[in-house]
Amino acid sequence: MVKVTVAGAAGGIGQPLSLLLKLNTNVTQLALFDIVNAKGVAADLSHINTPAVVTGYQPQDKQDRTALIEALKGTDVVVIPAGVPRKPGMTRADLFNINASIIRDLVAEVGRTAPNAAILIISNPVNSTVPIAAQVLKKLGVFNPKKLFGVTTLDSVRAETFLGGLTNTNPKQLKGKISVIGGHSGDTIVPLINFDQSVGILNDADYKGFVHRVQFGGDEVVKAKNGAGSATLSMAYAGYRFAEYLIDTLSGGPNNYKVPDSAYVYLPGIAGGEELSKKYLNGVDFFSVPVVLSQGEISSFVNPFEKLTVTDEEKKLIDVALKGLKGSIEQGVEFVNASK
Ligand code: NAD
Ligand code: LMR
Repeated sequence: MVKVTVAGAAGGIGQPLSLLLKLNTNVTQLALFDIVNAKGVAADLSHINTPAVVTGYQPQDKQDRTALIEALKGTDVVVIPAGVPRKPGMTRADLFNINASIIRDLVAEVGRTAPNAAILIISNPVNSTVPIAAQVLKKLGVFNPKKLFGVTTLDSVRAETFLGGLTNTNPKQLKGKISVIGGHSGDTIVPLINFDQSVGILNDADYKGFVHRVQFGGDEVVKAKNGAGSATLSMAYAGYRFAEYLIDTLSGGPNNYKVPDSAYVYLPGIAGGEELSKKYLNGVDFFSVPVVLSQGEISSFVNPFEKLTVTDEEKKLIDVALKGLKGSIEQGVEFVNASK
């Protein structure tokens, strides 16, 4: 019995992600919330012959909180792709002005109505929206760092695809061979390749090209869509991959991933995370690392510096990432502190 709520369910990501969630037979209730068209999307998906009962929730006006509260009641997992996407020429940070308050207000309602739910944040800039969510939940006294995830799986999906292309390997076989750590924008994204016999070796030019594509893959899609938004379908797949992993652990499924997918999390709230932050990350406390999940929350994580091989080249990428992350995290925390 797993209830999943999607906030932003009628959007470019929300619709295909909700479709994939509807196909998951461990999901028994699927609550779709959006400020527009949630009921239409729900009616459409509800005709698919899988067990999940789908319901749509739309507020009557800006003041109406009841629709969201109903969507959140008793939920186990809240997935949030609500907010605006980029247009060409914009960075993810340019979305802060609009998306920061959307995330603040949605997460506050989650904290009040479903304080035990796992929260998966997709809305950009993830490097700031997750600290915003954490700070909102802290203020409400319900912050559980083991249940707050910035969804960075698209970076792993891209890394597997691009490395597969360069090494003539089936990208599916590369899951777990590349961990993407750091944040989710440009040079805060750091792919770590765990080379072994099954992963081909890249020459210098291919390696540099690979890192650049993983870091700036989002720009390729924004440019190609030419004003019509950013990645939606690959993101729905990636967001679902992480949500499925979480739902599996809520449904008693085995958790036998050797190197699981990463998520952007608050490290000091996880056993060993504070040490990772202080010893290797200059005190940066939000960071994407491979997370081991159990019963819908983080049970442990894979410390890249101790469990994976981090090359000198990769260490340099991490140093650059840390500089970018610090400001984005502070911006998110300060935004909530300055809010009423
Ligand atoms: P979209 O504009 O197609 O959809 C967003 C949806 O959010 C719309 O249906 C809109 O009505 C809804 N919405 C707006 N305010 C809301 C609110 N207060 N409550 C509920 N719903 C609300 O955008 P999209 O392409 O689906 O992208 C959504 C977000 O995801 C963007 O911020 C984008 O940058 C981000 N994104 C993140 C990743 C990632 O890897 N984490 C990847 C791609 C996109
Ligand atoms: C992505 O990586 O595709 C998303 O973060 C969307 C974007 O703005 O690039």
